[in-house]
Amino acid sequence: MKRNFDIITKAITQSRIDALDESNIPFGKLYSDHMFMADFKNGEWQDLCIVPYENISVSPANTTLHYAITVFEGLKAYRNEEGGVNIFRPDANAKRLNISAERMCIPPVPEELFMQALTKLIKLDQAWVPSLPNTALYIRPFIFATDEFIGIRPSENFRFMIITCPVGAYYTKPVNVKIETQYSRAVEGGTGYAKAGGNYGASLYPARQAKAKGFDQLIWTDAKTHQYIEESGTMNVMFVIDGKLLTAPTSGTILKGITRDSVLTLAKSWGLEIVEKPVAVQEIINAAKEGRLQESFGVGTAATIAPIATIGFEEDIYELPPVETRELSMKILKELTDIRSGKVSDTNGWIYKI
Ligand code: COI
Repeated sequence: MKRNFDIITKAITQSRIDALDESNIPFGKLYSDHMFMADFKNGEWQDLCIVPYENISVSPANTTLHYAITVFEGLKAYRNEEGGVNIFRPDANAKRLNISAERMCIPPVPEELFMQALTKLIKLDQAWVPSLPNTALYIRPFIFATDEFIGIRPSENFRFMIITCPVGAYYTKPVNVKIETQYSRAVEGGTGYAKAGGNYGASLYPARQAKAKGFDQLIWTDAKTHQYIEESGTMNVMFVIDGKLLTAPTSGTILKGITRDSVLTLAKSWGLEIVEKPVAVQEIINAAKEGRLQESFGVGTAATIAPIATIGFEEDIYELPPVETRELSMKILKELTDIRSGKVSDTNGWIYKI
């Protein structure tokens, strides 16, 4: 039976939307007028409210500040053809949030609470959903521990929040990536499959080392042998070799990307051969050397499809074919864009209309 959650709204008196210039939206800098908050206390989520976006205060002994007991999600709302708002696969994000939460000893957020909070918040701030091509409202649900305690043990108190921000393109050009063989993003038995804040914090130092050498991002390899490709930056990664779409299976070290799943679903429906198996670095390098590596791209919520321009491995740089010639990634991006805007029918049930 559907449970209705009582969410109290305290609306802003003056919108900040005049600060939004749709033709120039830097990622993650300008936040919409309202945010959702709920606190987990005495074993249940309570004090559900939507309030003006503002700073929050936490104790200096807050467990999350010290031990990164936090998980997050990323999803997007799009302006549809009729001027309304479509959210892409929010139910999948609600489920994944709880998979991540369990790994960090964070209590689950009921999926109905997630959906009702999201719906109410996006309805209230729908003017913030931009309409220009390549824009969207990025939605960031997150949960963090709020105990005032610096001993190390699972927390008892938590906060669940949703904030949103209009965004443009995440990457403005095809990316140059380096296959990382020294540092690791995740290990078997670790938190790689979870969208845990610490995974992202720990990725910064290796990424900065690569930037200093002129790369935009890393391709992560398995921690044991560094011979198999796992993810690229904050995204899953795919390759097209000899007309087949190749990607690593999701595992304990690889995030179960919702964009990844959407891309594979579309490609399968078009009759494309999909190969989901461990992707050896050497296989990619050989294909690049032999001119058989037709395409490579990152797939994630923020960028959707991020074409890879070059791949650096050891001392060599391998250049991929020009982006304009990459039929599959361009077709996927167009189809996803058209599904999200309602231009083509949503046969997979991915669109949630506000
Ligand atoms: C995504 O693309 O799904 C991300 O998680 C990116 C985010 C860390 C900015």
